[in-house]
Amino acid sequence: MKTAIVYYSKHHGNTKKLIDAIAAKHEVTLIDATQTQSFDLREYDLIGFASGIYYSKFHKTVLEFAQKNLPGKKSVFFLYTYGRKMEGYTKVIREAVLEKSAQIKGAFGCPGFNTFGPFKLVGGIAKGHPDSDDTARALSFFENLIAHS
Ligand SMILES: Cc1cc2nc3c(=O)[nH]c(=O)nc-3n(C[C@H](O)[C@H](O)[C@H](O)COP(=O)(O)O)c2cc1C
Repeated sequence: MKTAIVYYSKHHGNTKKLIDAIAAKHEVTLIDATQTQSFDLREYDLIGFASGIYYSKFHKTVLEFAQKNLPGKKSVFFLYTYGRKMEGYTKVIREAVLEKSAQIKGAFGCPGFNTFGPFKLVGGIAKGHPDSDDTARALSFFENLIAHS
């Protein structure tokens, strides 16, 4: 199954830790959405969109990448890290891929160290995350997903 993961991970490289755990065990094409704005995804069977959560959604580089490059009717999944757990972080990216008639296979989110704004004053929140448990859970999420795709 040919897989690509398009990502944005800048605040502390938190989301990239999840991706690296997956890429260490599986052949995956990694696409940094800050470096690549156009990419032909037609030959890929499974496409992941991965991001830290910025102002309650996936970073706009990933969103714009999906709007521009996702072919119709692809299988997709989401990976993300956040400072504070809340519902709805995948809403906007979900809507964007559904516009392309994508099949959403699943989503995995976990805490990621956050020192944005006032959190810096208290030494940040979600310190130490993603930890080895989080990356192991991300890997099994992915393995479960490809086993059933
Ligand atoms: C500008 C900015 C906005 C953020 N907005 C949110 C938010 O709305 N909700 C949240 O839970 N975390 C928020 N965070 C925390 C990040 O989602 C979290 O630290 C994430 O793990 C960063 O991922 P990255 O290191 O892969 O970029 C924000 C961080 C930054 C820098």
